[in-house]
Amino acid sequence: MPRGLRGTALPFRYNHLEELEAIVAEHGAELAAIVMEPIRNAEPQPDFLPGVRGIASRLGAVLIVDEVTAGWRLRTGGAHLEYGLTPDMAVFAKGISNGYPLAAIIGTAEVMKAFQSTFISSTYWTERIGPTAGLATLRKHRRLNVADHLCEMGTQIQAGWRAAAARTHLPVTVNGMLPLSHFAFDHPDRQALRTLFTQIMLEKGFLATNALYAAYAHRAHHVQSYLAAVEEAFGEIAEALARGEAAQRLKGPVAHTGFRRLA
Ligand SMILES: Cc1ncc(COP(=O)(O)O)c(C=O)c1O
Repeated sequence: MPRGLRGTALPFRYNHLEELEAIVAEHGAELAAIVMEPIRNAEPQPDFLPGVRGIASRLGAVLIVDEVTAGWRLRTGGAHLEYGLTPDMAVFAKGISNGYPLAAIIGTAEVMKAFQSTFISSTYWTERIGPTAGLATLRKHRRLNVADHLCEMGTQIQAGWRAAAARTHLPVTVNGMLPLSHFAFDHPDRQALRTLFTQIMLEKGFLATNALYAAYAHRAHHVQSYLAAVEEAFGEIAEALARGEAAQRLKGPVAHTGFRRLA
């Protein structure tokens, strides 16, 4: 990141309207845009999205919704539609073309006019594979109600994790919107346990972490055999914990924790 951009992005947490209000109180007139995901790990609280929309409109700041991950999971057209949020711009990738390289930027006529006074080009600007995959995905997504299927798989997965945790007496918290589900071990060594979970699941033939992003290819019988393996893995982890041997069972280093904001 160029150093010149330092301090130009002022973070606030999802569902914490008061944090956005505090930023507005300090920097109001200087704010060009509010950028956020429409949803990620938690459902929006009733006043949050209308509150953000209201602040953006009042300031004249462009409200940009990042649908790169959330788009196409809850419904065709983006999660902002599901929650009745009208952004000024939205950006899409990933699910929009079922993994083929494609990104899309949409916006109100007013905002998109800005592209007339800039120059956009690239080596692959006439490339057709991404748009073709995008159109095929869009049609199939609508015809087969893919988003409903993802939510149904997510419902089964979340219920299965909770049941397996209860039966093996392992403290586990389940989170995430249904198609993008994940869980955490409620334990000081959660990262070691997460690594051990991956190790045990690999031994059972599943490449698994503490998250499961549902796909249309997933069927109930896949989820059932996966959940049977999860319950065995949870049982083995509970037993290792009871004996104080969880760390010793690891055959390699503890996995990295993932995304972190850089200082
Ligand atoms: C919400 C969200 N936005 C953006 C990105 C990536 O954006 P870029 O392709 O510009 O790195 C990701 C990638 O995982 C994402 O989850």
